[in-house]
Amino acid sequence: MPDTSKSSPPDTRLPDPSDYVQDGAVLIGCSRQGRDLVPECIELRLANRHGLVTGATGTGKTVTLQVLAEGFSAAGVPVFAADIKGDLSGLGVRGEARPNLVQRAQEIGLARYGNAAFPVAFWDVLGEQGHPVRATVQEMGPLLLSRLLELSEPQEGVLNIAFKWAEDERKAGDERMEILDLKDLRGVIDEMGKQAATLRSKYGNIAPATVGVIQRSLLVLEQQGAEKFFGEPALDINDFLRTGPDGRGVINILSAEKLMNTPRLYATFLLWMLSELFEKLPEVGDLDKPKLVFLFDEAHLLFNGARTAVLDQIERVTRLIRSKGVGVYYVTQSPGDVPDRISAQLGNRIQHALRAFTPKEQKSIRAAAQTFRKNPELDTERVIQELQVGEALVSVLHNKGEPSVVQRTLVRPPMSRVGPLTTQERRALIDADAKNLDKYTKTLDRESAHERLKARNTTVGQVKDKIRRFGNLFNLNR
Ligand SMILES: Nc1ncnc2c1ncn2[C@@H]1O[C@H](COP(=O)(O)OP(=O)(O)OP(=O)(O)O)[C@@H](O)[C@H]1O
Ligand SMILES: [Mg+2]
Repeated sequence: MPDTSKSSPPDTRLPDPSDYVQDGAVLIGCSRQGRDLVPECIELRLANRHGLVTGATGTGKTVTLQVLAEGFSAAGVPVFAADIKGDLSGLGVRGEARPNLVQRAQEIGLARYGNAAFPVAFWDVLGEQGHPVRATVQEMGPLLLSRLLELSEPQEGVLNIAFKWAEDERKAGDERMEILDLKDLRGVIDEMGKQAATLRSKYGNIAPATVGVIQRSLLVLEQQGAEKFFGEPALDINDFLRTGPDGRGVINILSAEKLMNTPRLYATFLLWMLSELFEKLPEVGDLDKPKLVFLFDEAHLLFNGARTAVLDQIERVTRLIRSKGVGVYYVTQSPGDVPDRISAQLGNRIQHALRAFTPKEQKSIRAAAQTFRKNPELDTERVIQELQVGEALVSVLHNKGEPSVVQRTLVRPPMSRVGPLTTQERRALIDADAKNLDKYTKTLDRESAHERLKARNTTVGQVKDKIRRFGNLFNLNR
């Protein structure tokens, strides 16, 4: 916005994104302490100690995520964020000086309010609103897949056998016996049913009824659109770790509007991404800033109805991913949505307003208030209910990693657009992202378990299979 004042002071430069990152800290907003306005920030060196953003609907969580994403990006830290309602996509274009945003800038004493666009990459499991994100069934593994298929433990047992059997076949020389997509998995499960009698001695019992249940669950999963997700080219997690030519971190935005219709798919998919990051990234210890910040919106879906084994995995990944330089920020409506053992690991906390209509809600507000390091000036329990939109209780890790005293903080206004992109704006940004476009647009369908099993079931295939098995012995493999 041009400065129209007649006698401009010498420093009329509008702030640019880097102004919100100073001395290794990212500005969130300002608190009022006595008569002073005090900047509240997240320390970049402690940003991998994770965080929690909570608040009732409409209290400013998404805008706060936007501010965090902008800050990390400006600090050169790539970000991954799930975009539940489409409004985070606004990060990709310059915002405008709307009255409520300018007012917020003034409230927190910012001399000027500036706007900027941020480097973004769009992703979409369904391949519509961004580059397709795919994983192979094998990469997802039996634990997460069982959750996706809502299998019981005995059923999960059979799924484990299917994975193990395919692995053994590969080791025995049939290298293409890979479970890449749902067709492959279906084929292998079928095969388990057919060969149940012979496989029993090696792998254990495979009840026909169980095979039937898994097949039916697979069908449901396919109907939910998951077949688009499973396959190749699989996502290379390193593509989330990019910075732009200007050194700013790329903000990877996963379009999750449609995906949210199938909450289990959404949650499992995000958990898979976290697990991938955890497995693929090297150990780095404590860095001066994270390698990636992962913003996990609607995180309660991850924990709802999760079996102990899955919760164990979430806890383990959250605990250990820190030393890979990844900070995870869970976002939910109420802090009570996050199990204690995971909540205990979330050091940087931003609590927007909560409403208490029922005794149960009152109780959860009390619990939320008690998680903060006490500020003698604040009645935390009361303040949580009084906070305005875009205002939050903030306590972050500082010094040696201890939580700061909680402060009532007005979150700064974002520099990018508050609200979604138009279809055309989004398309233009996707098309400009040539590297990801080249790499991910086209689906690959290599020969894998499905084709291998089909081939084995023909007469020629059976002969070939026998030769493959015994070829070395008789010198037939030519
Ligand atoms: N820091 C802020 N400065 C100025 N305005 C803000 C700020 N935070 C939020 N607002 C205003 O409040 C509106 C609602 O905020 P937001 O979308 O972030 O809420 P939410 O908690 O994500 O809601 P929901 O739970 O429905 O997704 C915004 O569109 C914006 O107009
Ligand atoms: Mg929101």
